[in-house]
Amino acid sequence: MVSSDNRVIIFDTTLRDGEQSPGASMSLDEKLRVAHALAELKVDVIEAGFAIASNGDFRSVNEIAKQIKGPTICSLARATKGDIERAGEALVPAENKRIHTFISTSPLHMKYKLQMEPERVLEKVSESVAFARRFTDDVEWSAEDGSRTEHDFLCRCVEAAIDAGATTINIPDTVGYTTPGEYAAIMTMLFNRVPNIDKAILSVHCHNDLGLAVANSLAAVQAGARQIECTINGLGERAGNAALEEILMALQTRNDVMPYSTGLDSTKIMNASRLVSAVSGFVVQPNKAIVGANAFAHESGIHQDGYLKHAETYEIMKPQSIGLNKSSLVMGKHSGRHAFKEKLKELGFAEMGDNAIQDAFDRFKELADKKKEVYDDDIVALVDDGLRDN
Ligand code: KIV
Ligand code: ZN
Repeated sequence: MVSSDNRVIIFDTTLRDGEQSPGASMSLDEKLRVAHALAELKVDVIEAGFAIASNGDFRSVNEIAKQIKGPTICSLARATKGDIERAGEALVPAENKRIHTFISTSPLHMKYKLQMEPERVLEKVSESVAFARRFTDDVEWSAEDGSRTEHDFLCRCVEAAIDAGATTINIPDTVGYTTPGEYAAIMTMLFNRVPNIDKAILSVHCHNDLGLAVANSLAAVQAGARQIECTINGLGERAGNAALEEILMALQTRNDVMPYSTGLDSTKIMNASRLVSAVSGFVVQPNKAIVGANAFAHESGIHQDGYLKHAETYEIMKPQSIGLNKSSLVMGKHSGRHAFKEKLKELGFAEMGDNAIQDAFDRFKELADKKKEVYDDDIVALVDDGLRDN
């Protein structure tokens, strides 16, 4: 049965899947800073790492478990006793802890990667989940490559995981292959066919290889999933994971058509985005949705004029809702007189007469043809020059 509860759990995996991006590894101190930012953002679950992966990863999970209060702290573990024990050990100090254990379920992964028969995989699902329950009541099980798994087998694995005690069932789109309609249909199929599905939260975890990670996650929520796994700035292997900030702002901005809530404080997004970019070394592209430098910037004269008359003409979100002070009017060759006058006022030239403004605007247009962006200092200089010349 599809849940009637519209609260969506946000599971952040910046420190685990995000950190798996080549070149994005973070020090313990950096991870702690990110974990604090995630707690301020009020994410529900922080996947702090993969405790068995290295001593450094163990320490990070352990320190985050000690220091971070509020969110549930989670460690990843393969379906082996050693992995699960290490995860359990690292999580001991956590206020609330979750073990996230996974195994591949697609024909391709079982045959070539695991080299294991499906029946053995099924046994391992039950064994790993039951073993993880010895360390915590909060156990998540993931079907790696779930979106490319045969439906009958996926149903059997999900049922077995729930019977063994899994409280969250995650169906990753590990290689970013699915589409919104197909992924939603997998959720619906699970709700219709797995008899004990009501005993667990259905979760989604999407990679962005086709640029569909956010769309797929939202489609799955509309089909009844109630946990989304995502990362700040969409950090993650290959093309990355679903971007937390895009999911949150889509749910907030289009609540009319997607009536789901999260417990997050969106005003903390910019802070988290800048921190993750700084510590991972992954620069955010300027036109990235929500957190890119141009996401709240207007350059064309028509847009600037409309925006100055009423911000909602060209803005669907308020910059303050993500923690920015204000939108910016970028002065360039497409800018018009209205925005230029506003810029002059902002720079302290409120008393200029019409002729002086026209003169400055002409000089500005000449300069703008030669430069990609005209900075505030350039405008101050050209107004000063004009005042001197007259
Ligand atoms: O993408 C994936 O399948 C994963 C799992 C380990 C959850 O990251
Ligand atoms: Zn992943």
